[in-house]
Amino acid sequence: MSATVVARSETLPALAFDVEKIRADFPILREKVRGHELVYLDNAATSQKPQAVIDAIVEYYETGNANIHRGVHFLSEKATEDFEQARQTVQRLVNAADASEIVFVRGTTEGINLVAQSYGGSNVGAGDEVVITAMEHHSNIVPWQMLCEQKGARLRVAPMNDRGELLLDEYEKLLSERTKLAAISHVSNALGTINPVKRMIAVAHAKGIPVLVDGAQAVPHLAVDVQDLDADFYAFSAHKMYGPTGVGAVYGKKALLEAMPPYQGGGDMISSVTFEKTTWNKVPHKFEAGTPDMAGVIGWRAAVEYMNRVGVARIAAHEHELLEYATQMVGALPGVRIVGTAKEKASVLSFVIEDVHPHDIGTILDQEGIAVRTGHHCAQPVMERFGIPATVRASFAMYNTREEVDALAHGIRKVREVFA
Ligand code: ALA
Repeated sequence: MSATVVARSETLPALAFDVEKIRADFPILREKVRGHELVYLDNAATSQKPQAVIDAIVEYYETGNANIHRGVHFLSEKATEDFEQARQTVQRLVNAADASEIVFVRGTTEGINLVAQSYGGSNVGAGDEVVITAMEHHSNIVPWQMLCEQKGARLRVAPMNDRGELLLDEYEKLLSERTKLAAISHVSNALGTINPVKRMIAVAHAKGIPVLVDGAQAVPHLAVDVQDLDADFYAFSAHKMYGPTGVGAVYGKKALLEAMPPYQGGGDMISSVTFEKTTWNKVPHKFEAGTPDMAGVIGWRAAVEYMNRVGVARIAAHEHELLEYATQMVGALPGVRIVGTAKEKASVLSFVIEDVHPHDIGTILDQEGIAVRTGHHCAQPVMERFGIPATVRASFAMYNTREEVDALAHGIRKVREVFA
């Protein structure tokens, strides 16, 4: 481990939590949309990027671009060092015990597919079961369905109540000697529910069942400690936490990763290749076939550093305060029903308006420069559970303000006027 980078990451000055100063670091927030100030409330889909992240990517291409793990020349060594230092930054973000437990992938979806095909492919067989929850994103449903179909296994789904809270007793009842893995979301992208994953993992472990956590919507908003959670696998993306698109990581306990076969074949994941036999590189490289997204990983490091400077606890507190305010403001508007009212929530306000389709709401809000997501949010079973085709989803990040929540409420009043 290079002392320079630890120092770089840990000696950057902390930023005071001044939302206006934070906003000034995000160039896109100065854009006008349809003649209005941009009100960006689609952060659960992807967050905006601070200048520090944009600069890190530009700097990499301007001064540091070369392929990693392959060259003896200066630039290749520098790019390799930056890339591996970024792995350590991500390791510290989720408190993994070792940097080799961080496998870089394209994002949460690829991380889950990797575990499904590699771990699942060698540990799930005919008649076995995989347990998920009723609030999963398609990314944490479909890879398991594909696996179950390949293997003749069965997917079991733990239900939730009308507030969007998991029924823990039902979850526990589903875990049996047939269960080979539980795959659970930390925070629901459609409802905002924070699941009690530490408890859910402990319950599964008591029965000898490993657990994968989909952390895509958690890492941007909560301090995550994979060792404290005792997660076996934890998948997350850069782009929802102020980093670039196309990069993410899956954490895996070292012993599990070491026992798993590779996910994809190609360069870098091998130790030696002959036409007769190939042997695998050590973890995490065994799972990183091909030239990775070096610029993306280096940009991600800058995003983690930015979040660390602001402070994850302060980000969480700010977003929590905004969510409470928005719940109160939007929830009080006539005809509005909030979908997802769990006690523990992070950053997501999903709602419907009586007799107005969410797409129409989204279109009218867009005319006011307000970006929200409308639709099923890649969680169709959640919509089905609530008997609705879609919701409008406002999702918050560290740079959002109360004024933006007011703008949202004002926009919703306009929707009501148009449809009155
Ligand atoms: N998974 C992302 C969302 O919830 C795209 O919008």
